[in-house]
Amino acid sequence: METTNQDETVSMPRIGEEAPAFKAVTTQGEIDFPKQYKGSWVILFSHPADFTPVCTSEFMTFASREQEFNDANCKLVGLSVDGLYSHIAWLRTIKEKIEYKGMKNVEVKFPLIEDITMEVAKKYGMIQPGESNTKAVRAVFFIDPKGIVRAIIYYPLSLGRNFDELYRALIAMQTADKFSIATPADWVPGDDVIVPTAGSCGVAKERMESKEEMHCYDWFFCTKKLKKEDIEKK
Ligand code: BEZ
Repeated sequence: METTNQDETVSMPRIGEEAPAFKAVTTQGEIDFPKQYKGSWVILFSHPADFTPVCTSEFMTFASREQEFNDANCKLVGLSVDGLYSHIAWLRTIKEKIEYKGMKNVEVKFPLIEDITMEVAKKYGMIQPGESNTKAVRAVFFIDPKGIVRAIIYYPLSLGRNFDELYRALIAMQTADKFSIATPADWVPGDDVIVPTAGSCGVAKERMESKEEMHCYDWFFCTKKLKKEDIEKK
C-alpha cells in the first residue's frame, strides 16, 4: 500500500501481500530479502537506535532466544537507521560489557541491517513521523516461507517488546496453517483450538457424524483438543 504523506510517499506492507524486496548490508554480510529466506519463516524487526537501553534489553533477549526461533524454522533479521560500524560497536559492547537479567556474553548472531538512507525502513512503514522522523519505530513483520507478510505489530519507541508473545504468534500461525484451525484469545500450545465454522450443511453433517471430539459453545463457536506433542511433531 502506498500513501502520500505531504510531499513524501510512504509505503506500508499489508498482511497477505508479498514482503517488499530489498538488498542490504548487514552485520552478517549482504542479504537479499526475502528471496534468501524462502522456505523459512522470518521475523524482520526494527529498533530506533543502537546504544539505547530499551533496544539493548530487546537485543539481549532476542539473541538469547534465537535458537528457540530457529528450531521453529524462523530466522531473525534486525534493522535500524544506524550505520554498520555503529551496529558492530554496539553489539560488541553488549557481548563484552552488559550483564542483564542473568544474560551475559550475549552474541547477536542474526543479521542487523544498516539503513542510513532509510530506504528499507520507509518501504516497510517503519518511519512514523508522529513518533519520530529520524528513528524507526519498533516494528515486527512475520513473513512466511513463501515470502508473504502474515502479521505485523508496531510498538512506540518507549515500549520494549514481549518476546514470549512474538514466539506465541509464530507458533499459532504455523499451527493454524498445518492443522487448518484458528487459535482463541491467549492461546498457547496445548490449549484447545477453534474449528472453523461449518460453511455448508454438508460440512456441518460431516462434522456431527465425525468421531472428532468437539466442544460447541454455540453453532458458530466450536473448539477441539490439539495436543502440544502433535504440534511439535509436525
Ligand atoms: C531505547 O531503546 O531506550 C529508546 C530509543 C529511542 C527512544 C526512546 C528509547
